Amino acid sequence: MFITLEGGEGAGKSTQAALLADALCARGHAVLRTREPGGAPGAEFLRNVLLGGTIDWSSRAETLLHFAARVEHVEKTIRPALAAGMWVVCDRFYDSTLAYQGYGQGADRGFIATLAGLVGLVPDLTLVLDVPDAVGADRLRGRGGAADRYEKLDAAFHQRVNDGFRSIAASAPERCVVVPAGADIQTVQSAVLAAVDGRSRLALIAR
Ligand code: TMP
Repeated sequence: MFITLEGGEGAGKSTQAALLADALCARGHAVLRTREPGGAPGAEFLRNVLLGGTIDWSSRAETLLHFAARVEHVEKTIRPALAAGMWVVCDRFYDSTLAYQGYGQGADRGFIATLAGLVGLVPDLTLVLDVPDAVGADRLRGRGGAADRYEKLDAAFHQRVNDGFRSIAASAPERCVVVPAGADIQTVQSAVLAAVDGRSRLALIAR
């Protein structure tokens, strides 16, 4: 299965992606945990371009850079892993472009949907980790370290991103499961595993 984790800042995706990958490994699956932007050398290079620096990209250029990184990631890392029978757990995928560039920065959402279609890889399951806006903002403040280009944007931007993820999840219920992520790590992890088990059962029935 190809599983993606999505959500705004401070939703706990990276922690949950690591815990999910460990749990799947413990069940005997071969698992690749990866992330976007990144997950292949060229894509990690573009991650530094996108998250660092002070360039005020045009929204289409920024969208295309995310998709350039994504195509590199899909072709060099994700597809080969899936072809080898691995489970792939990916921290962010194209829903992040729709939420951040589309809903957050006002890029053309039709343009993003077209590019997503061209990538031609749809997750089997997308876990949308949803935290109340204030909790996400608190966790972000508590993180320490230098903020990246997106983390530095204002609260209204992050609220549009969070609302964007909620809309995306509502518009694709066959793929997305919203996981309330304001609770403690173990509670969220149980909800994540329950969603994965539910989807695996459905996939087995469909076969
Ligand atoms: P993260 O590794 O902390 O999730 O950081 C990645 C940042 O990049 C995060 O702020 C979201 C942003 N991003 C986009 O704006 N568009 C995208 O398509 C992706 C994958 C990430």
